[in-house]
Amino acid sequence: MVPDRHTLYEACVQSPPEMTLMLRAIHGEDPKLLGEDFAGTAALSRHWIANVEGGEAVAVDIDAETLEVAGAHQSLRTVVGDVHKVADKVDCLFVGNFSIGYLHSRDELIGYLSHARQRLNKNGVFVCDTYGGETAFIRGNSARDVKLGNGLVCKYLWEQREADPITGMVTNAIHFRVFDGDEAIADMPDAFIYRWRLWSLPELRDAMLQVGFVATDIYSSLPDAVDDEGNAYAEPITDPDWLGDSFIVCVAGRTAKP
Ligand SMILES: C[S@@+](CC[C@H](N)C(=O)[O-])C[C@H]1O[C@@H](n2cnc3c(N)ncnc32)[C@H](O)[C@@H]1O
Repeated sequence: MVPDRHTLYEACVQSPPEMTLMLRAIHGEDPKLLGEDFAGTAALSRHWIANVEGGEAVAVDIDAETLEVAGAHQSLRTVVGDVHKVADKVDCLFVGNFSIGYLHSRDELIGYLSHARQRLNKNGVFVCDTYGGETAFIRGNSARDVKLGNGLVCKYLWEQREADPITGMVTNAIHFRVFDGDEAIADMPDAFIYRWRLWSLPELRDAMLQVGFVATDIYSSLPDAVDDEGNAYAEPITDPDWLGDSFIVCVAGRTAKP
């Protein structure tokens, strides 16, 4: 059977085990309550509740067809609606796969981050990912083969279709083609299309400080190390040379100094 576009998205784009470790490492204590805004199929939340002892999650997405894929789980509250409408308190609030770019103007960004700040418990962290560097405003494609099991392989293509450094707006598209051996059994051009504002790292950090976060840091999108007990370690990136020419990173805002 050919996987649907949500299954392909999870296989090609997301890494819930690594992101769970990262969020716990960035938080630095033992966070139990996860908020996942712009959650899509809530893949991170589902992994969190299954793997964090006593873990609970609330996942919010405006698109019912997408969030429905998450199904019903004890310890997971799914909310179909706008991210601004949910007030549940959490220890970690995550916005993944560049979705912070749905906030197109600075007023919208400040409004959302202010709301996010209000949702955090004591010692809470807000984390979003973004990309940057020399290719950030260049149009082009990047392709990868992803094994799906049962001998199927997905050719995953990420396209930056439009990029305007004057407005900061980009249009990105995701395409999938599924192969069984040499035979293409599914072709999904434009499986997902996004129109985003690509915020820079200092713009995000300044906005976080403006709404009351007391400290901000930049982290890699993967843990630096994981010990034998499965605890991850993540060091803030403080030297631009560590970023490389083009990068994907997490930007974290804290409600208390670490
Ligand atoms: C790029 S996907 C991110 C999925 C997932 N968080 C990830 O890390 O891959 C963005 C999701 O944000 C949702 N979305 C866009 N605007 C929203 C809003 N105002 N409130 C809630 N969800 C929204 C879309 O329906 C879409 O499923």
